[in-house]
Amino acid sequence: MTEQRGALDVLVTGGAGYIGSVVTEQLLEAGHNVLVFDNLSEGHGVAVSPEAKLIVGDILDRKALHTIFASNHFDVVVHLAAETVVARSMRDPRRILRTNVVGGLNLLEEMVDVGVLNLVFSSSAAIYGELTRDQIAEDDPHEPVNPYGQSKLMTEQMLAWFHRAYHLNSVSLRYFNAAGATRAHGEDHQPETHIIPNILKVALGKDSIVPIFGTDFPTPDGTALRDYVHVADIADAHLRAIAKVNVLGCRSYNLGSGHGYSVQEVVDAARFVTKKPIISEAHDRRPGDPAALVASNALAKQELGWDPSFTTLESIVESAWDWHRHHPDGYSL
Ligand code: UFG
Repeated sequence: MTEQRGALDVLVTGGAGYIGSVVTEQLLEAGHNVLVFDNLSEGHGVAVSPEAKLIVGDILDRKALHTIFASNHFDVVVHLAAETVVARSMRDPRRILRTNVVGGLNLLEEMVDVGVLNLVFSSSAAIYGELTRDQIAEDDPHEPVNPYGQSKLMTEQMLAWFHRAYHLNSVSLRYFNAAGATRAHGEDHQPETHIIPNILKVALGKDSIVPIFGTDFPTPDGTALRDYVHVADIADAHLRAIAKVNVLGCRSYNLGSGHGYSVQEVVDAARFVTKKPIISEAHDRRPGDPAALVASNALAKQELGWDPSFTTLESIVESAWDWHRHHPDGYSL
């Protein structure tokens, strides 16, 4: 079997979200046909490029999913629709497990029923939990410390069985910390929990202080270490995975830069980029937050030919700053 070439028909669940909108943008640029399926609970209709078709619906709605597959042809599905807020998953695990695991299973069942057997899945570094390694490799222990990570791990485990029993091919992309923006698409969550947009809100004068959650982690400056990877590089990995998923079987790859930056370093980088003072304040740790999550990205480089183009934290923050300055109220008009 050879890799998939030419224009493909692609279903993108969650294509109105932060990462999904950039995946859709790049798929369209590459000449593919895109149908976005999104319940718009986190995503924004206006974030879906007009060349894509948008159907508003929920992966928990089995009938809606069935109709989509009955009335459209797909070569591949990119599954990003999910609940993603870690802190909320700690307070209300059943909601995230239902959406991510039951919703994921609904999608897989519909796919195999109609013979759509190629899937690219949005997984997460959160499946690893609290590891003490400098760089996490794909086969390091999977011990999530929050229900969000658990839901992503459970879906990866379902994918292994679906491959074995129904020959469903899948590539799971384990994102580390997605960050940055393209000219057209950026990060706009309600409520916003992510560090870079929260810092930039302070730079824009929309908030007065950015909280730093945890200053007593076992890290060099006491704040948590994360691996920030540009959303356009993440989207590029999806396109590479789509081209090869039919020959890869069932694989998982880390998407990270390989470098860890502390929350304090992110605040400093934003001060440098925005030239604003950005006041921060020490707070207690946020429940469910591991001390450090930094990727080894060797496998994605080797097998997908992926090589992130944004290599500095400043360039990532700068792209986010450009978007936020031009969209101070996010996607709201
Ligand atoms: N943080 C703050 N202040 C804030 C927001 C965040 O100090 O206002 C801290 C967090 O406590 C954490 C770090 O900044 O230590 C990064 O937090 P984010 O919320 O930006 O991102 P997370 O690492 O919590 O989670 C993100 C995704 C998850 C994914 C994870 C993988 O949201 O879906 O990256 O690394 F699982």
